Amino acid sequence: MTTSKKKNLVIKGNKKIWSGRFSEPVSELVQRYTASVHFDQRLAEYDIQGSIAHAEMLSATGIISKKDLIAIKQGLEQIRNEIYNGEFIWLSELEDVHLNIEMRLTSLIGDAGKKMHTARSRNDQIATDIRLYLRFSIDDIIAHIKIMQKALLDLAEKHIDTVMPGFTHLQVAQPISFGHHLMAYFEMLKRDTERLVDCRKRLNKLPLGSAALAGTSYPINRRMVAKKLGFDGVCKNSLDAVSDRDFAIEFCACAALIMTHLSRLSEEFVLWMNPSFGFISLADRFCTGSSIMPQKKNPDVPELVRGKTGRVNGHLVALLTVMKAQPLAYNKDNQEDKEPIFDTIDTLNDTLRIYADMLTGINVNKDAMRNAAMHGYATATDFADYLVKKGLPFRDAHEVVAKAVRFAENKNLDLSKLTLPELKNFSRLVEKDIFMVLTLEGSIQSRDHIGGTAPSQVRIAIKQARKELL
Ligand code: ARG
Repeated sequence: MTTSKKKNLVIKGNKKIWSGRFSEPVSELVQRYTASVHFDQRLAEYDIQGSIAHAEMLSATGIISKKDLIAIKQGLEQIRNEIYNGEFIWLSELEDVHLNIEMRLTSLIGDAGKKMHTARSRNDQIATDIRLYLRFSIDDIIAHIKIMQKALLDLAEKHIDTVMPGFTHLQVAQPISFGHHLMAYFEMLKRDTERLVDCRKRLNKLPLGSAALAGTSYPINRRMVAKKLGFDGVCKNSLDAVSDRDFAIEFCACAALIMTHLSRLSEEFVLWMNPSFGFISLADRFCTGSSIMPQKKNPDVPELVRGKTGRVNGHLVALLTVMKAQPLAYNKDNQEDKEPIFDTIDTLNDTLRIYADMLTGINVNKDAMRNAAMHGYATATDFADYLVKKGLPFRDAHEVVAKAVRFAENKNLDLSKLTLPELKNFSRLVEKDIFMVLTLEGSIQSRDHIGGTAPSQVRIAIKQARKELL
């Protein structure tokens, strides 16, 4: 479209709707620097919903006529269609999503369009748009978390009896069920959902009616607008409503935690795919090769999840920093909240979707897991506990077993491979039944309480988790 045709559409020359008191137009650079429409047009649907609810209230309270309301609604519906069909022309001269829609409305319906902004400011309008957008996004993210949790449960269920070494300090610690390990991530994601639900509750309040900062002299009905837009109530202070973005910061904190959890799992996948571990392999569609080393199969997807966690965590810090020195009430600084929020949502949704798929394509090498558990004296604690149950104080038992481990290490043998006389050398309390205790299965089965790794407990945990997901 030619520039002259563009201009004819809505504005004359470089004139802004607020330019009445200015003696010269803004420079091209300033226009580009201050415009947000190239990213905030993403809010168009919520901007339109907010405008319809606002106009309905203006008409119900007699601030505008019924006739004007009908025209406004028809015009906004047409604009919505134009946007969905990709026909709407976004102009950066018109700064943001709000002015683009309002100007188009006026060009469609004339004076009635100019009345839509009565008793409103872009300050309470944008605060409303972001809250609506975040509310929708939170519901979407929660749905994606559920799908990933379901994939975790399916995998965990297949590996209730799969033995792997549990680690502390990334050193073999005690044998665990692989299903139990996976269920740890189910728990993290469960708390992540709870946090999002909580964040949603706090952000689901209506800013509209706060106008620029102090409220408005028109006889508005804020509760009516809140109800129409599905808000649980109205923001109680106009200055706070137009200026704070704490709800967005909270959302970014929730997102950063989710990514951080997924980053931890990714780090494990990367390690487990290393041939020295060899615990798992990922389906080929999640890996790439090397352009120079023909033997390579790289876990690019988990690595990228780990990397993208950096950018999501960065967005949280960006929003905190945008907010930190702002005096009341609205400041243009807040325009900088959009891109971090949008990128957080996109990154998170993509990551959750890719993870749900990746979990279904994991190949588990049970032998490698078991072998690793056999080679780290993973049942040493069980040996100590055995001695304690026979009357030895725990600290003494710890000492006895440490010596036995050193002995076994010198012989390059697992504890379970030592002979009874050899074991008896370390404590007279040792009897034949020690060999039950020293097996990986015996160790796992003995941790049979809520939260423990015994397969019977893991089975119960998975069953309960499935119910929670319904
Ligand atoms: N684009 C602005 C933002 O994102 C909308 C509010 C602008 N208000 C104003 N008085 N300039 O925050």
